[in-house]
Amino acid sequence: MSAPLRSTGGFRGFVLGIETSCDDTACAVLDREGRVLSSQVSSQLEVHRAFGGVVPEAASREHLRNWPAVSEAALAEAGIGWPDIGAVAATRGPGLVGSLLVGLSLGKAISYSLGAPFLAVHHLEGHLFSPLLRWGGASLPVPESMLGLVVSGGHTSLLDVDKATGAVTSLAETRDDAVGEAFDKVGRRLGLPFPGGAEVDRLAELGDPSVWRFGTARISSNELAFSYSGLKSQALRALGEIETRTEIPRSALEGDDAAWPREVLDLLAGFRHAAVAQLIKRLDRLRDERPVARLSVSGGVAANRLLRREVTAWGERRGVEVMLVPLRFSGDNAAMIAHAGLLRLRMGDADDPRSADAESRIPFAAGVL
Ligand code: KG4
Ligand code: ZN
Repeated sequence: MSAPLRSTGGFRGFVLGIETSCDDTACAVLDREGRVLSSQVSSQLEVHRAFGGVVPEAASREHLRNWPAVSEAALAEAGIGWPDIGAVAATRGPGLVGSLLVGLSLGKAISYSLGAPFLAVHHLEGHLFSPLLRWGGASLPVPESMLGLVVSGGHTSLLDVDKATGAVTSLAETRDDAVGEAFDKVGRRLGLPFPGGAEVDRLAELGDPSVWRFGTARISSNELAFSYSGLKSQALRALGEIETRTEIPRSALEGDDAAWPREVLDLLAGFRHAAVAQLIKRLDRLRDERPVARLSVSGGVAANRLLRREVTAWGERRGVEVMLVPLRFSGDNAAMIAHAGLLRLRMGDADDPRSADAESRIPFAAGVL
């Protein structure tokens, strides 16, 4: 069988997506219209929880261990077999290099053996276009003009998409911590299971955001850059102070919401309010500078209840169409990787599986992804 080489134009069959950039082993199948036929995500959290974070070496091993079951489940759910795969897309980075190498190598081998085109996808590109995904329906077309806010445990990015070339430009990044990282550190300080972002969000709903006032990041007024380490430190310090006078009962951590000290819930509400307010402030700044027709909002933190409410209201206020990622595609998944690969295939693009490489960090070359 001859090896698939760079660029192919068309392809037959279905797109297989593979995502192993961090601790989730994910595999998905999309059809040519971008309809998600299956999206399997196998979490390794039980393995990493005892360490309070992801252990890279363990993550790589778990990906290898999980892959057979995850991929078979994705094919079975889609009702197809290996020969039906017409293209393969796998995450090339950024992420944990050992983890990336597992998924990328599997993708390369599958593409090579099936003679199917291969796409090595940037993780952020996957998130950026994920609001176009529809469960059970064809994906929405890429709009003429679109900006993207990607908020996750590893990224806080404002991106611009050039539809004609597919080029993605970064308009702003975080200077220090990602917004999801700040949520996770606060969750960890409270003793919540890793990653604590979703639980901090849920508990923040029970508190009063006006009790604690957090300072805003010191970034000059015309800049778009994000910064979360200051807010994180303020929240951790405040939690330390509360703990000197109030003990968090074990029952609170075991799910009894009524047992949480009011002070803690109010602090979480204040922290979440400040975290989301920074995002909205940057969007306002950007909108003051230029017209924005559409904004896609994606990444794990796009599941945040307050962010979803606030960014929707912002869009209505500022005349911007806001496209929120469907909740089931907000966290890391392989449907978004297959989808980003499909978009590149439609532009006649593909990578050589013999040379595509995994990269833990992918700097924006002159601002382009
Ligand atoms: O996109 P994702 O699954 O992985 C990365 O690419 O990082 O995002 C995971 C991040 C974690 O930091 C997690 O705590 C956070 O998203 N997260 C949330 C919520 N749900 C997940 N953060 C705030 N509010 C949530 N509801
Ligand atoms: Zn992600």
